[in-house]
Amino acid sequence: MADSFRFQYRNSNNFRFDYKRSLSLLFPSRWIPLSLIWAIGFILIVAWQRTAFDRFWIPPRSIPSLRSLVFNLTDFGAVGDGVTLNTKAFERAVAEIRKRGGGQLNVEAGRWLTAPFNLTSHMTLFLAENSVVLGIDDENHWPLMPPLPSYGYGRECPGPRYGSLIHGQNLKDVVITGHNGTINGQGKTWWIKYRKKLLNHTRGPLVQLMWSRDIQISDITLRDSPFWTLHPYDCQNITIRNITILAPLSDAPNTDGIDPDSCVNMVIENSYISVGDDGIAIKSGWDQYGIAYAQPSTNILIRNVTVRSMISAGVSIGSEMSGGVSNVTVENLLVWNSKRGIRIKTSVGRGGYVRQISYRNLTLENVRVGIVMKTDYNEHPDEGYNPNALPVIEDISFNGIRGQGVRIPVRIYGSQEIPVRNVTFQDMLVGITYKKKRIFQCSFVQGRVIGKIFPKPCENLDLYDEEGRLVKKSMSQNSSTDTIDYDS
Ligand SMILES: *[C@@H]1O[C@H](CO)[C@@H](O)[C@H](O)[C@H]1NC(C)=O
Ligand SMILES: *[C@@H]1O[C@H](CO)[C@@H](O)[C@H](O)[C@H]1NC(C)=O
Ligand SMILES: *[C@@H]1O[C@H](CO)[C@@H](O)[C@H](O)[C@H]1NC(C)=O
Ligand SMILES: *[C@@H]1O[C@H](CO)[C@@H](O)[C@H](O)[C@H]1NC(C)=O
Ligand SMILES: *[C@@H]1O[C@H](CO)[C@@H](O)[C@H](O)[C@H]1NC(C)=O
Ligand SMILES: *[C@@H]1O[C@H](CO)[C@@H](O)[C@H](O)[C@H]1NC(C)=O
Ligand SMILES: *[C@@H]1O[C@H](CO)[C@@H](O)[C@H](O)[C@H]1NC(C)=O
Ligand SMILES: *[C@@H]1O[C@H](CO)[C@@H](O)[C@H](O)[C@H]1NC(C)=O
Ligand SMILES: *[C@@H]1O[C@H](CO)[C@@H](O)[C@H](O)[C@H]1NC(C)=O
Ligand SMILES: *[C@@H]1O[C@H](CO)[C@@H](O)[C@H](O)[C@H]1NC(C)=O
Ligand SMILES: *[C@@H]1O[C@H](CO)[C@@H](O)[C@H](O)[C@H]1NC(C)=O
Repeated sequence: MADSFRFQYRNSNNFRFDYKRSLSLLFPSRWIPLSLIWAIGFILIVAWQRTAFDRFWIPPRSIPSLRSLVFNLTDFGAVGDGVTLNTKAFERAVAEIRKRGGGQLNVEAGRWLTAPFNLTSHMTLFLAENSVVLGIDDENHWPLMPPLPSYGYGRECPGPRYGSLIHGQNLKDVVITGHNGTINGQGKTWWIKYRKKLLNHTRGPLVQLMWSRDIQISDITLRDSPFWTLHPYDCQNITIRNITILAPLSDAPNTDGIDPDSCVNMVIENSYISVGDDGIAIKSGWDQYGIAYAQPSTNILIRNVTVRSMISAGVSIGSEMSGGVSNVTVENLLVWNSKRGIRIKTSVGRGGYVRQISYRNLTLENVRVGIVMKTDYNEHPDEGYNPNALPVIEDISFNGIRGQGVRIPVRIYGSQEIPVRNVTFQDMLVGITYKKKRIFQCSFVQGRVIGKIFPKPCENLDLYDEEGRLVKKSMSQNSSTDTIDYDS
């Protein structure tokens, strides 16, 4: 329809031309300016109509039926005016879907204010184009839940924590998708209250699914979460694809994008994340609570993701990793205008391990520190942590690291207690901005470099040629880069 209208519009130009010429033949020359004004007026009206047409007359994308039973949120009395509280409508809809053994809930265009609600199994939540699920920003509407067992505490206050805006426990086969509709946590009020210490409980995530499996989250936008944005906890088989996660880059505390936490078999791909903390942070519980809960995060693939993070890092592992993190592949990751590219963070007391982590084709555009490993991230739930619980960090490989405008490309600080073992660097070429001698910083690191890399690696690493033959064995794995420059 739009095309045929544009065609008409083009014709109207020709029409104007012909019309003017015929006018000048028919009328004396003093009529020409008048006919010109008329023609210009005509064009302006047509142009205005065309904008109006585009704005008002392109029909909304129709919503596909992805399950045999489909409901609209409005069937349950919801009003999308941004003011009416629709919690009951969401609850009634979910109850109906639960009763019927599954179904799809369409959230149509509009602004649907709600307090937290639960999903159910075999459910698809479909967020239509221009639909916004708005989280109410008054904490009195947010239910409290027991702390996560692997954390022992709310993450920022002892005792219970606020639940998530969209929540689910022990579910199977859950899909949240749409035509890029939005779930908006209206986090600003929460961030301000948190900073002013007006909250007595840990803030809630935007979307949290616990002890669930077969989850797909795709083609939607998540924004302004009060706390972590998307938090799959002790879940299996999760696909997150083609989503956008947004929060302000500063003054939006703890708005991590995605926190895979004690999760197995997970893919995160084709997504854009720009938030006020880590873009993605893989976790598995906190100190003695995480060690006791003992559920690792494993078999995680992150690919074709673009991240921006001015406070923390593009993709992190930890710092809560006490259940262990293994078999993680991060590939085709772009981190731009950020503080750090990737980071592994842990501390004494965590226990657990971080191993079999492979980074391939990492692009770092204007980041201060590219690759970071930090073993003194001393944030503990309480004094009951075990100082002898030492995490293991090993078998980490980097292949294909590119970038420009990077200040410190590598900073790996193992320690006497937590040395970093078996790190491999291959095919690295990063443009730097900082002409300091030690920009590949290491301490307590054992590993190797295969072939030539830039910048020149620290002396802690063994050197191999392209064919994998040892060229030079390091005699100083444990030496520390002299200038520790935490500031940059
Ligand atoms: C849902 O709304 C759409 C239009 O927005 C309509 O075509 C469809 O019939 C409605 N479905 C139900 C189950 O009410
Ligand atoms: C949501 O689920 C949680 C956990 O299963 C439960 O405690 C809570 O009562 C549920 N809320 C509603 C409104 O059903
Ligand atoms: C990604 O999401 C956008 C917006 O919802 C959509 O237009 C596009 O088709 C999606 N791409 C894929 C590959 O699904
Ligand atoms: C989806 O919406 C977000 C926020 O409005 C926008 O930034 C993003 O580009 C959109 N995604 C696609 C694929 O259109
Ligand atoms: C926090 O606790 C204090 C003291 O018990 C109480 O006065 C205040 O209203 C509480 N604030 C919130 C947001 O619940
Ligand atoms: C994983 O979940 C998807 C739905 O999200 C499902 O189609 C698929 O069969 C599941 N795979 C396994 C191995 O359970
Ligand atoms: C990578 O993700 C973007 C969306 O962020 C998408 O447009 C593009 O098609 C994806 N590339 C591949 C190779 O899947
Ligand atoms: C590691 O994870 C990938 C998915 O990213 C999976 O295909 C592979 O089987 C896993 N490897 C092992 C040894 O479990
Ligand atoms: C490397 O990743 C970038 C995105 O960061 C992508 O554009 C490029 O195609 C990838 N290269 C290969 C060889 O996959
Ligand atoms: C070192 O790590 C690589 C993976 O990066 C692995 O293939 C290799 O087996 C490890 N070497 C040892 C000695 O564990
Ligand atoms: C370096 O320190 C680690 C642990 O602190 C130790 O196991 C290793 O033997 C030391 N290596 C050398 C060459 O001194």
